[in-house]
Amino acid sequence: MYYRLNNSCQLVRGALRGAIYDFQSGKVFSINQDALKLLDECRNKSVEDVIDINSPHNKNVLDFMDQLTYTGLGSAYIYKPKNKKQAEPEDEDEKLSFLWIELTSKCNNKCLHCYSSSDACRNDDKVTHDHWMSLISEAHREGAASIQLIGGEPLLYPGWRELVIKANEEGYEFIEIFTNATLIDDSCIEFFKQQKVNVATTIYADNAEVHDKVTLHQGSFRKTMNAVRKILDEGIPLRIASIIMKANENEADNIIKLLEDLGVETTKLDVVRPTGRGDDEELLPERFKIPMIKPPFYTSYEEFWKARKQHNCLAGKIAVTSTGDVIPCIFARNEVCGNILASSLGDILKGSALKRCWSTTKDHVKKCKDCEYRYACYDCRPKAQGSDSSKDWCACTEDCGYDPYTGIWENLDKKE
Ligand SMILES: C[S@@+](CC[C@H](N)C(=O)[O-])C[C@H]1O[C@@H](n2cnc3c(N)ncnc32)[C@H](O)[C@@H]1O
Ligand code: SF4
Ligand code: SF4
Repeated sequence: MYYRLNNSCQLVRGALRGAIYDFQSGKVFSINQDALKLLDECRNKSVEDVIDINSPHNKNVLDFMDQLTYTGLGSAYIYKPKNKKQAEPEDEDEKLSFLWIELTSKCNNKCLHCYSSSDACRNDDKVTHDHWMSLISEAHREGAASIQLIGGEPLLYPGWRELVIKANEEGYEFIEIFTNATLIDDSCIEFFKQQKVNVATTIYADNAEVHDKVTLHQGSFRKTMNAVRKILDEGIPLRIASIIMKANENEADNIIKLLEDLGVETTKLDVVRPTGRGDDEELLPERFKIPMIKPPFYTSYEEFWKARKQHNCLAGKIAVTSTGDVIPCIFARNEVCGNILASSLGDILKGSALKRCWSTTKDHVKKCKDCEYRYACYDCRPKAQGSDSSKDWCACTEDCGYDPYTGIWENLDKKE
């Protein structure tokens, strides 16, 4: 008898254990060292050559195979089947798909945690309006179909409307403005409708007292909420983000309730990331914690192969700051991959610095590279890097207590 994993499965080895990635059910199954060794040996030998099937000691091995068969993960064969290698998707050069443009570092808020350290006094914007206009065209030619205007506060940038019109003329499929919404008036609402602009904004509490303590702008809650109501009344697509820090950690449930009452899709609350003014331990919440990474993990054929070659989130994205720096993500402020004032976008996209960011997979990340879940586990590089004392790009996240060298999950509840 021969035994093989089905063709819709991939076996992934960790330092100690293994995992079966099943593209049919979309599940990832953890297996121990013995099971891993057995499946490995069964690739080339018959089951009888691997174990004595008549020995009562091996009953559990046969039960394991039955279980795999029953779950649809493996099959027994009388004759030796051909070793079929699952087709890998063709390698394609990753293209630009998403562009953030940080129009200005100026802001009328001065949020405690702001990664771009924005405030009303910032005066270091360098990209000219003409350059933003040509960048929008060039990025679209390079493949970008989505664009987000962000900052600082993008509505403080005088030519933002013209940039939106340009993006529409170029044919971007998705245009979003990420704004604190305090400056949105009726003419903006009309413009958003006309130009099919999506809006994203941020709420830190369900009351002015706490929200304004985060933004350091008295009256900001009232202005933001007025805009939110108008946007919703007009049916403009709206996303609301919420970042939790010490100053608003008691507001987490209230924020979720407020978003539900408004009928806005609840996005997961995120904790402040250690970048810009946010790089301050004093800001960290004491009680509110985001859930630790833990099983179950899920997979698909596409995600599995993508995770082996590219970063699950960064690939295809760039952010251009108001000084012209190109970074792989708005949070990855130390990873400058070029500057559009010094080089063409095309050259930066072809450059090794950006390629390195886009192709950082968990095979490069400390500890994760030895973990059997590495092609199914989400990764946020800027967050892991920001929390690392030496700011290592390949640092492992603090949000995982798994030890792939012992197979033990620790501190599962420490952060919850
Ligand atoms: C920098 S703001 C720019 C857009 C606009 N001014 C606003 O606040 O909505 C974009 C988003 O990043 C979030 N943000 C800023 N600094 C952060 C940090 N250190 N960690 C996590 N999110 C942060 C803000 O709360 C906001 O939701
Ligand atoms: S988070 Fe947004 S609103 Fe707050 S200071 Fe930064 S850019 Fe301004
Ligand atoms: S974070 Fe790393 S070590 Fe933890 S489960 Fe994911 S891949 Fe494994």
